[in-house]
Amino acid sequence: MPQTYDVLVKGGTLVNHDGIGPRDIGIRGGKIIALGTFGAETAGKVIDATGLHILPGVIDSQVHFREPGLEHKEDLESGSRAAVMGGVTAVFEMPNTNPLTTGETELADKVRRGHHRMHCDFAFWVGGTRENAHAVAELERLPGAAGIKVFMGSSTGSLLVADDEGVASILGNTRRRAAFHSEDEFRLEERKPLRVPGDPASHHVWRDVETALRCTQRLVRIARAQGARIHVLHISTGEEMTFLAGHKDVASCEVTPHHLTLSAEDYPRLGTRLQMNPPVREPSHREQIWQGVAQGIADILGSDHAPHTLEEKAKFYPQSPSGMTGVQTLVPIMLDHVANGRLSLQRFVDMSSAGPARLFQVAGKGRVAAGYDADLTIVDLKRQVTITDAWIASRAPWTPYDGKPVTGWPVGTIVRGRRVMWDGALVGPSSGEAVRFLEAFPRR
Ligand code: DOR
Repeated sequence: MPQTYDVLVKGGTLVNHDGIGPRDIGIRGGKIIALGTFGAETAGKVIDATGLHILPGVIDSQVHFREPGLEHKEDLESGSRAAVMGGVTAVFEMPNTNPLTTGETELADKVRRGHHRMHCDFAFWVGGTRENAHAVAELERLPGAAGIKVFMGSSTGSLLVADDEGVASILGNTRRRAAFHSEDEFRLEERKPLRVPGDPASHHVWRDVETALRCTQRLVRIARAQGARIHVLHISTGEEMTFLAGHKDVASCEVTPHHLTLSAEDYPRLGTRLQMNPPVREPSHREQIWQGVAQGIADILGSDHAPHTLEEKAKFYPQSPSGMTGVQTLVPIMLDHVANGRLSLQRFVDMSSAGPARLFQVAGKGRVAAGYDADLTIVDLKRQVTITDAWIASRAPWTPYDGKPVTGWPVGTIVRGRRVMWDGALVGPSSGEAVRFLEAFPRR
């Protein structure tokens, strides 16, 4: 009998838009071509998923992979290796590299570097600045561009557009949804004396709730005035969640595993490893961010994977850099929350795959359906593993979750029909390609 499928993922439980149930997945030419019940003889290769759950491939729309310029912390190969080890099938990478990704040349360079060298599919955010504001409508539609990203508060690197006028000049020109780091730079400057040398627990006192809320309120006001769509990255306060509930027509938002899992109570244990922008805060904010997830105000999850070496992190606060690894731990940490009953598996899929595809108009991903890319995150919901630094594939080989036992584990990563990771080992050649976006299709 002629083979119908190149690959058949057989015996698993599919978690999808129509529910959760047994489905085999037939794949040809890197695409899903059929869902149903199929015999092993229909395929050239069978992936046995018995006892496992199959999720649409996880898209992490906020990672920092540091290439070019800061490769001692991470590069596109090591960062994407960490991604697939953690079950992530596509990443959108941030522009605060060196040189900054602010023009066509830098973007094309990253796409070239990533092509078939990265282990997962990829797109790159282009940094919005005062200088390129007039050109963002062209930049955001270039091949491999995820959209425009703006830092309204300074963090790692020099990208910054602090004032309303600068932000308006960018949002007056964007057509796609632009992403924002929302912390009020003016207030950050005023409050710098509140940083206590040697005490990273003063980080969230300096970068306080009002710093985040005020900026997000300014941002939404500007977006409305310009008729623009925005995406507010890494929400860290309950107050922003409440505010954004009234502005879902213009603003989407992201929450991170660390803001949902860690709190300021972890500073004594983790010290500068917990230092992050925007900061992790009191447990009450963590609870309110969970409320935002439960109410559907939070649209998506992103890891904000921001690697710095342990030597760098060991510097005396506030010289210590902000950021922690996260792309590899996103799936296990969130599956552990699923196991503990904090969110459903379908809500996890909505926030990690379907959601990013919907917000950023990804072509052919975010759904296990005929005609879509065969990107799959295969997980064992019952497997109990203790996360350790030794498991972390990043060039910054540490995680704030070292020693944390979790229930639920990524067992396989399939990118466009190819098995890339299986049972903790890298099993395929690197075959990452640029993600395509509906709003960036070339017009005739
Ligand atoms: O803590 C952070 N680190 N927040 C950011 O926004 C940037 C990131 C980095 O690139 O290190």
